[in-house]
Amino acid sequence: MPAMPALTTSSDGFLLHGEPFRIISGAMHYFRIHPDQWADRLRKARLMGLNTVETYVPWNLHEPEPGTLVLDGILDLPRYLSLARAEGLHVLLRPGPYICAEWDGGGLPSWLTADPGIRLRTGDPRFTGALDRYLDLLLPPLLPHLAESGGPVIAVQVENEYGAYGDDRAYLEHLAEALRSRGVGELLFTCDQADPEHLAAGSLPGVLATGTFGGRIGTSLDRLRAHRPEGPLMCAEFWIGWFDHWGEPHHVRDAADAAADLDRLLAAGASVNIYMFHGGTNFGFTNGANHDHAYAPIVTSYDYDAALTESGDPGPKYHAFREVIARHAPVPGEPVPEPAPKLPPATVRLERGVPLLPYAAALSEPVRAQAGPPTMDELGLRAGYVLYRTTAPVAGDGPLRFTGGVGDRAQVFVDGAPVGVLERERHEEVLPVRIPFAGAVVEVLVENMGGVNYGKRIGAPKGLLGPVTFDGTALHGWDCHPLALDLPPAPDHQVAVPLTPGAHDAGPAFHRGTFDVGTPADTFLSLPGWTKGQAWVNGFHLGRYWNRGPQRTLYVPAPVLRPGSNDLVLLELQGTTGATALLTDTPDLGPVAP
Ligand code: GLA
Repeated sequence: MPAMPALTTSSDGFLLHGEPFRIISGAMHYFRIHPDQWADRLRKARLMGLNTVETYVPWNLHEPEPGTLVLDGILDLPRYLSLARAEGLHVLLRPGPYICAEWDGGGLPSWLTADPGIRLRTGDPRFTGALDRYLDLLLPPLLPHLAESGGPVIAVQVENEYGAYGDDRAYLEHLAEALRSRGVGELLFTCDQADPEHLAAGSLPGVLATGTFGGRIGTSLDRLRAHRPEGPLMCAEFWIGWFDHWGEPHHVRDAADAAADLDRLLAAGASVNIYMFHGGTNFGFTNGANHDHAYAPIVTSYDYDAALTESGDPGPKYHAFREVIARHAPVPGEPVPEPAPKLPPATVRLERGVPLLPYAAALSEPVRAQAGPPTMDELGLRAGYVLYRTTAPVAGDGPLRFTGGVGDRAQVFVDGAPVGVLERERHEEVLPVRIPFAGAVVEVLVENMGGVNYGKRIGAPKGLLGPVTFDGTALHGWDCHPLALDLPPAPDHQVAVPLTPGAHDAGPAFHRGTFDVGTPADTFLSLPGWTKGQAWVNGFHLGRYWNRGPQRTLYVPAPVLRPGSNDLVLLELQGTTGATALLTDTPDLGPVAP
């Protein structure tokens, strides 16, 4: 028989080891924070007055290939849990399998979503089978961190806002039982948007139901109470900021307004998980996307206008929340931490580049497709780019048509010269081109801008999504170079050519520069004059940049830097007006909506 869970419920609240307890939690995703900074962020959580932190668990990163569990570096969840415990914090664990979170594919691995016809987040045995095998791998190393074994985890979430997606009760039951039967004896809970339909479809009898909301506190708590006449009231995601899409204004929420709502929640006796206490960064290719009427990818920063900024400094909300919490619960008397030091501003010169198109063959073996082009998923690539190459059978002026569109942004070249860009965001499928002679080389560089993380389009394929025709004639015989770019390539600088500042359309190329650091400290990479691409520092993939904004600087965590010489590599997709990058001491996440 499993031991009694540490956290239980009474008629109107929680009990921890039998004593009345209120959860005052903040969300902080270990996979969005450099692991050398976890301890610092956890300490700051405690000093704000939190007694608990909450994290999701991203399946797509932990099981990158079926049967392989990754649990090290930024994915060392057992270490994160040990650090939380050392700080005296409890943990709410949200293992998914679906996590939403503005995260690539909502955390569902692309090897799974690529399975044609699979019914995600349902009792489809192909889905539950993969899920069960994942839990068989993931849970054993986590069990020692559950409260019943002396660890910090006091509650575990089942699915995520399931009521907004489906109504397969048997699937939710399967998931709850999958956790129980593998040794999770702690309190289970579901979370749903606080309205009757979502709560009804997303909750389970015998499992605590919680709500996700950022305002209308009274109404939301009333709805929770109407759904569950007894038990604790909990806001499992109290939204105190918001995320950003490329091409839209930066979102902020007034600190005083958020603090007033936090006060209302606590005054009502509710428990809370502040979403986000610390948002962090979508490093590498990890950002998700929305797709309602149009595809809208999430930016690299997940600052979220949270209590701690992206670089871990206390912002206005940190101070305001600490004051509010102190009215309702004891808050440590230690002083509020000062902002961390920043590097002095510096300039990095990147004067030579290695063009990507001729270099692609050295980066990856092509996969040959005799007929139409395969999707990125069919090529087995989870993220990054594919360079597709073929020849045009006929010459002339005409439409180059990408049936089904592109996933998600395609740069097209004829005979090595750029002829245009197609974006899924803008529903673009046709490009007028001139093919100078039959047999001219057509190249298409396609970027996966992030997997949809909410709604029915989760798992939508990437790359070229259907046949390509020129003036009605199909293009066949594609050589496809998958460019995973997990690490920046080490371009052979023998082949580097001088950069041509002012060339906005010079085409995709890798650029490298070095800069000296005295004592490593946080800094922000600013790329004035550059257009769109990826940035790495000392091999650490900072993520995407794009002059479309709103985000204008990329966060460079101090632990990525070293005393002495440091490397900056950019993959610039279009071209640049200058040959310098800047390191600044101030982040710029872009203009806020008026
Ligand atoms: C929902 C989801 C979260 C996140 C927020 C918005 O509440 O559960 O994962 O996507 O929306 O940031």
